[in-house]
Amino acid sequence: MLLVTGGAGYIGSHAVLNLIENNYNVLIFDNLENGHIETVNTLIGFGNVKFVKGDLRNLEDLENLFNSYNIDGVIHFAAFALVEESVKKPSKYYINNIYGTINLLDTMIKHNVKKIVFSSTCATYGEPKYTPIDENHTQNTINPYGYSKLVVEHIMDDYDKAYELKSIRLRYFNVAGSDEKIRIGEWHEPETHLIPNIIKSAINESKTFNIFGADYDTKDGTCIRDYVNVLDLAEAHRLAYEYLLKENQTEVFNLGTGNGYSVKEVFNACEKVLNKKIPVEIKSRRSGDPAKLYADITKAKKILKWEPKRTLEESIKTAYLWENYIFSNTASNMLYK
Ligand code: UFG
Repeated sequence: MLLVTGGAGYIGSHAVLNLIENNYNVLIFDNLENGHIETVNTLIGFGNVKFVKGDLRNLEDLENLFNSYNIDGVIHFAAFALVEESVKKPSKYYINNIYGTINLLDTMIKHNVKKIVFSSTCATYGEPKYTPIDENHTQNTINPYGYSKLVVEHIMDDYDKAYELKSIRLRYFNVAGSDEKIRIGEWHEPETHLIPNIIKSAINESKTFNIFGADYDTKDGTCIRDYVNVLDLAEAHRLAYEYLLKENQTEVFNLGTGNGYSVKEVFNACEKVLNKKIPVEIKSRRSGDPAKLYADITKAKKILKWEPKRTLEESIKTAYLWENYIFSNTASNMLYK
């Protein structure tokens, strides 16, 4: 069976859904610190999914897991992933994301499991020297979150040399949207991400949406990012695992769309899709935000035969429907025709 760490979280749960819809047997391992038991229960209702609550920082939890199940490979999502928090609490990021991953890798080696797909990030590149960013761009990360992921990439190289552990590192850009049937979705507490925050202000007009900085060196002064739909991203994980099974080769891929949108453009798209004026204010810059990040995805297209299919507008629609669902528990289908 395929072990998915962090399978109760946002991206992990969408990957699990994709895997079970493609007839995989999935074992979710999650400490539920950021993931949700409701998400796990939903997934269990849709396919062959088992769940074990446990923590990567606890070697015994991992040992019990690998002793109890016949694990063929791993997709490793479990991590803390907020840039700003990582600057304030680096120890939390280093202990969980690096030490926790070493525990996972050591347990894998001990049990002769040597294939892993790993969630890395465009944050490993730091301030881009050029855009679009390809996989050969230097990795000069500027925050502890990015550094924790970069260190793991290096550790995986060392484990490849020492133990023949084969890894695919997927460097995500910005992820958006939810399952189209609104069974699972993006559910962070607190929420810091752009699209859910705009939507929260659309639903609750007393909550003004803040644009963090309109004085960047970009076309309209706001930051540019590459928003890839979570279902497209989920599909890339399955393709990456299947590539690993077939080729048994360590690789790295950027996952984005290749298109950059400014914060103002995303905001305008939300107003248009939701057909609503949303209260907005310009605030000062948030620390650690590079002006422009978007991906060159030529390699993933060519080697994984992956193609992101969904538009920014589609991501906004599903994100809105999900947000409505969790906060009012009344899924609306007015936007999703
Ligand atoms: N933004 C706002 N207002 C908000 C929230 C965000 O203006 O309320 C802006 C941010 O300043 C940034 C852009 O919208 O310019 C995107 O911000 P997000 O927080 O949605 O995403 P990030 O680009 O900061 O972070 C994402 C992932 C990280 C990853 C990072 C790589 O969430 O895990 O990309 O840079 F590390």
